[in-house]
Amino acid sequence: LGKKVIHKPTTASTQHIAHQLAQESAPHGTIIIADEQTAGKGRMNRKWHSTAGKGIWMSILLRPEILPYLAPQLTLLTATVLADVLSKDTTIEPKIKWPNDILINSKKTAGILTEMQAEQDQIQYVVIGIGINVNQTTSDIPENINSKATSLQIETNNAFDITNLIQHILQTFENAYDAYIKNGFPNVKDKWESYGFRIGETIQIKTIKKNWHATFLGIAEDGALLTKAEDEEIKRLYSAEIDWYKE
Ligand code: BTN
Repeated sequence: LGKKVIHKPTTASTQHIAHQLAQESAPHGTIIIADEQTAGKGRMNRKWHSTAGKGIWMSILLRPEILPYLAPQLTLLTATVLADVLSKDTTIEPKIKWPNDILINSKKTAGILTEMQAEQDQIQYVVIGIGINVNQTTSDIPENINSKATSLQIETNNAFDITNLIQHILQTFENAYDAYIKNGFPNVKDKWESYGFRIGETIQIKTIKKNWHATFLGIAEDGALLTKAEDEEIKRLYSAEIDWYKE
């Protein structure tokens, strides 16, 4: 990992560069880091605010030899890596909101966007985009999201060294990735659940088709969300948004 590292002071999105490089046959483990993104993107076509010098905006290009349907496990793995690094390097207790938001004090401080190129049963490449709000102050967080979003600095009153954090993330990622390729998902699943937000509680679930609430049981061996509503069987969900349930 990181044999090739590309650093851009400013760019539209590190995801775009990663896709481009992947198509020009860049190797597994290529890292793209930007100080600022002018068109940072989040999941579900959302915009990702990527203020200059205030956070970690980075994409990791992987060429994993796993089946395409297992790629979501890499997102969950990345979430455990971020949670591990944040709990070691800060005084706060991070939580992971399924599938991949990192929360501090119930507010989002980091997100992961995984994009894959696959043909039939083979992955060409995966790009894992990591965005972490590090040194933003309250006035750096746009008003329309400030009830839901935060930064490490806002939550701890400390400024963090972004380069150190990136190094720690890459080291931790490399170890976790190697262990996953060797041993599979079970250990990742356990670790994910140890950070899981609201496991055992009632959550609100939203898919394109409907909106309901159910108990959050944990995640399955393949990373699916396991829920159970009253009088129903256990449901496995691969794509949904969850929120807490307010009566
Ligand atoms: C989300 O929670 O919606 C995912 C956010 C992912 C943001 C990162 S920042 C680096 C990479 N480049 C992007 O444009 N997006 C990801």
